[in-house]
Amino acid sequence: MGNGGVSESLSGKRLLLIVGGGIAAYKSLDLVRRLKERGAVVRVVMTSSAKKFVAALSFASLSGEKVYDDLFSPADEQEMGHIQLSREADLVVVAPATAHLLARAALGLADDLASTLLLATDKRALFAPAMNLRMWLHPATQRNVATLRADGALFVGPEDGDMACGEYGPGRMSEPLTIVAAIEAALAQDTRLPAPRATRGPLAGRHVIVTSGPTHEPIDPVRYIANRSSGKQGHAVAAACARAGARVTLVSGPAQIADPPGVETVHVETARQMAQAVEAALPADVFVGAAAVADWRVEPAADKIKKTNGGPPPALALAENPDILARMAGRGENGPALVVGFAAETSDVIGNARDKLARKGCDLIVANDVSAGTGVFGGDDNEAHLVSAQGVDSWPRSSKTEVAERLVAEIARRLGGGAS
Ligand code: CTP
Repeated sequence: MGNGGVSESLSGKRLLLIVGGGIAAYKSLDLVRRLKERGAVVRVVMTSSAKKFVAALSFASLSGEKVYDDLFSPADEQEMGHIQLSREADLVVVAPATAHLLARAALGLADDLASTLLLATDKRALFAPAMNLRMWLHPATQRNVATLRADGALFVGPEDGDMACGEYGPGRMSEPLTIVAAIEAALAQDTRLPAPRATRGPLAGRHVIVTSGPTHEPIDPVRYIANRSSGKQGHAVAAACARAGARVTLVSGPAQIADPPGVETVHVETARQMAQAVEAALPADVFVGAAAVADWRVEPAADKIKKTNGGPPPALALAENPDILARMAGRGENGPALVVGFAAETSDVIGNARDKLARKGCDLIVANDVSAGTGVFGGDDNEAHLVSAQGVDSWPRSSKTEVAERLVAEIARRLGGGAS
């Protein structure tokens, strides 16, 4: 294997690593080594101040690739234009991300190769900030971080620790292996940014509300009832709607995955909070209920429920939760023009989905088999059937992103024409 037995978890992945000018730049040399041994192709871009800390030759030797640093190099431009450099990557990684680089990225400046690439890329950027703690905590930096997050950027760190300047606090760049883990997590999801918003795209001018993830129904201050939904399918639908030009409100239960880019995400815990957030986001053209909403809630105890020490176990009294999908469908003219539900079934998938379509009164049901062994719950793939009054369309097993894209195409077809 020649890589010390490390798994090739990033095999075939293309990373564009932008190195900013900070003392942590030396750690990025090790980062390149760790990424290479996992099979990634790493192209390095250095800012001019980065080159004051580490020589370009060190990055060239470790990456085995040419290091880019000049926006106006005719030779580089001929070999690989800066647009291509920014687009061929699966993910852009900025490590170390200095306060100045974050500020330039947040403002959309394009005054050198690094900032131009951050503006031109169609993929998400993962920033690993490194700076003095006061600089990190300064409202200007925090404002820039919030702006970048809202634009779809991801962050890893900074960590608390001793700094090169002698102070202690948040500002140290994360260790290379922590950054590697964040890169792996980012690549496990869709890293494409939505098309620039959007007078274009089949859903341009439309508002779509999507629910996603599980709900948590508290039992007492420390316990809750949950389910195995990962949120991957719902988040993929939200991202696909955004790429198709829609304005998207994603109401997400507690999912362990990142908010999709270009989408307004509202985080909730319980079914009742989810119902409220959906109502608050109306009016909408489309509602897609992809969340695994708990059918029941418990009237939560104010204090932690204690052991009964041999006595009868405490009984949980359950009350029914609002059915968000049925409510949206029931709004008729005053609700979304198109209402789409999901049916996660473990037997008679199509029969149960047909029944659900009628019972909930929605236009479409995306039905799938989530029995143990299918790997659908929590996995990256799905095998779905689109059930409507017109019949059943069974889609081949494919990624959740592809299922989302098929659904968006069907939604666009049914809405027809441009926005109202
Ligand atoms: N749903 C909802 N609100 C609820 C329950 C379900 O919006 N309180 C939505 C889900 O988001 C999904 C669809 O309804 O789009 C089907 O969810 P599912 O749990 O399969 O349906 P149930 O009505 O709970 O039916 P059953 O438990 O009998 O299978």
